[in-house]
Amino acid sequence: MPTGWSPTSWRAFPAVQQPEWPDEGDLDRALKQIASYPPLVFAGEARSLQSALAQVSAGNAFLLQAGDCAESFDDFSANNIREKLRVILQMAVVLTYSLGVPTVKVGRIAGQFAKPRSSSTEKVGDLELPSFRGHIVNDPTPTPAARIPDPDRLVQAYHQSASTLNLVRAFTKGGFADLSRVHAWTQEFVGTSPEGQRYEQLATEIDRALRFMRACGVDTENTSSLHEVDVYTSHEALLLGYEEALTRQDSLTGGWYDCSAHMLWIGERTRQLDGAHIEFLRGVGNPIGCKIGASTSVDFVLELCQVLNPARVPGRLTLISRMGADKVESALRPLLRAVTDAGHPVVWACDPMHANTFTSSSGLKTRHFDDIIREISGFVNAHRAEGTWPGGIHVELTGDNVTECLGGADDLTVEDLDHRYQTVCDPRLNARQGLDLAFGVAELIRSSGFA
Ligand code: TRP
Ligand code: MN
Repeated sequence: MPTGWSPTSWRAFPAVQQPEWPDEGDLDRALKQIASYPPLVFAGEARSLQSALAQVSAGNAFLLQAGDCAESFDDFSANNIREKLRVILQMAVVLTYSLGVPTVKVGRIAGQFAKPRSSSTEKVGDLELPSFRGHIVNDPTPTPAARIPDPDRLVQAYHQSASTLNLVRAFTKGGFADLSRVHAWTQEFVGTSPEGQRYEQLATEIDRALRFMRACGVDTENTSSLHEVDVYTSHEALLLGYEEALTRQDSLTGGWYDCSAHMLWIGERTRQLDGAHIEFLRGVGNPIGCKIGASTSVDFVLELCQVLNPARVPGRLTLISRMGADKVESALRPLLRAVTDAGHPVVWACDPMHANTFTSSSGLKTRHFDDIIREISGFVNAHRAEGTWPGGIHVELTGDNVTECLGGADDLTVEDLDHRYQTVCDPRLNARQGLDLAFGVAELIRSSGFA
């Protein structure tokens, strides 16, 4: 355990982005309840993810971190979870097959509820309301009552995370993720599209490869890695009381783990070196991510690496750049160089979504597929120039046929946005755009001479 750290030591530091709970007693009761519940994940699983990420930091694997911007209490069903998994598996198969290295699969799922906000209030029409902070805090309905933070929601988020994770475990270990089902993951609305056709071709090649292996005498039936996958969970560790309540001491090693998810990340708005979020996460044994924007300085990044990973453990720290399509190449290069020179083994991942958001002429928040690809392209270029490995992508997507991001193979337009704009927070890629992105990423990396 690092010096001076305990699961509660963050409480002595300034914590930004915490809701104003109306009653401290109610909050305490909810947190005590959660603290008495079973952990959602185990320390050993977090360590497995850390080993997988160590492979990414060494350039031998690729990280796919994907899922909702914010999970919803309303949109909570087996269908929704299965469809999201389906796209993640399809993207993973495309990446694994095209890059020829394992894809580490991490969902923004089973706990990704809390949202940081740029302002504590927002205007809806003439009404000035407390901002919506995710279903774990309040309700998005634009009335003053709905926006009051309610600690019972913390408990509900725990239960929703538990049943989501239960289904994720069932789907990933119970046959759904079997490689013999590559064709079956294609949904109807994807299959008929150009990227769907491309996927079908790749799936056919995988079928042939499996048949070839069997013909050669390989016992594919009894090789469990062909039938199962590990899909890990992650979310932004924003509400520190909730994270503390799920932080448990590992009986095997004595270390503390935040058992709300396998991996936790720190957002761009909460990454103050002297703040509560960094204080909390520096002491837990999970793999940790930190978002870094275009204005991030070399000094900051070096200090961040030092604070979050003083022992320089490979896989412990993932730096997720979210710099914008126009800025990423020039802003990232000095950071890649400095961190490499300092000998810090980090995973470099690209969040090509958050710095490319704008409000369309129809008033809806959106992102253009082309900008997302351009940011990944700049990210890959920066790594090629500095001789580092573009380790992964971090994206917001859904398995549903939504119309939230512009462009893609269907070329969604501003007029299309109205049709199925369903997100409770940021615009997500739909299943087709996700698949399209996986092909695009694989091509960018390969054409840069990496794989
Ligand atoms: N278990 C391997 C892996 O996770 C192979 C695999 C099985 C796989 N099913 C998959 C890969 C689905 C991607 C998607 O890589
Ligand atoms: Mn988001």
